[in-house]
Amino acid sequence: MRTPASTPGEAASAPLAYDGDKLRAPPDYREWIYVTTGIDMSYSRVNLPGHHMFDSVFVNPAAWQAFKRTGTWPDKTVMVLEVRGANTKGSINKRGYFQDAELMGLEVHAKDVARFGGDGWAFFAFEDADKPATMISRDNDCYSCHKAHGAVDSTFVQFYPTMLTLAKAKGTLSASYLQDVAQEKPAAQ
Ligand code: HEC
Repeated sequence: MRTPASTPGEAASAPLAYDGDKLRAPPDYREWIYVTTGIDMSYSRVNLPGHHMFDSVFVNPAAWQAFKRTGTWPDKTVMVLEVRGANTKGSINKRGYFQDAELMGLEVHAKDVARFGGDGWAFFAFEDADKPATMISRDNDCYSCHKAHGAVDSTFVQFYPTMLTLAKAKGTLSASYLQDVAQEKPAAQ
């Protein structure tokens, strides 16, 4: 998959662009606020042998400005998660991993109360960055896992270093996340 082509002049203040009932992949998300990169993060303990992956998260600048003030996400927040393979052989590299140029996955978590109702959040997964995607249906486990374990408003702020401190200070951590933390056993290793 290719990184979506950037369209100069597309308003940064309007990160959500729909095509009928579908969402277009935000073309300029790589110019947004960098949130985090995880490596080989997994919801299960199963490891894919010999296959390492980076996932990086970006958020639209207006949402981050609001988060800094309030510790939570405003309406019209758009978060993008991109997945890239981890390469080790290339150029002068001898050890460690760098991100592959080819995109392996592109997912969006977007908040649009008028459009989606309820808490406003909806998930999308793009098979091709140039083709709009249909909203993932509400019975998918995207919704249940994010709602049950996301630290702030169904997003995984516990893994977003610059955001977690702010959320703690503003007291916006979700009750379910605080319960998760309370149940965590001290590290045995
Ligand atoms: C079992 C739990 C779980 C499920 C199921 C899940 N996610 Fe996530 N998701 C995570 C975790 C953990 C992160 C944090 C990733 C990081 O720190 O790099 C995350 C982050 C994200 C983000 C970045 C913004 C945010 O909300 O924090 C997007 C976008 C996303 N997931 C999309 C999806 C989509 C689409 C699905 C369903 C197809 C899905 N997720 C299913 C656990 C889950």
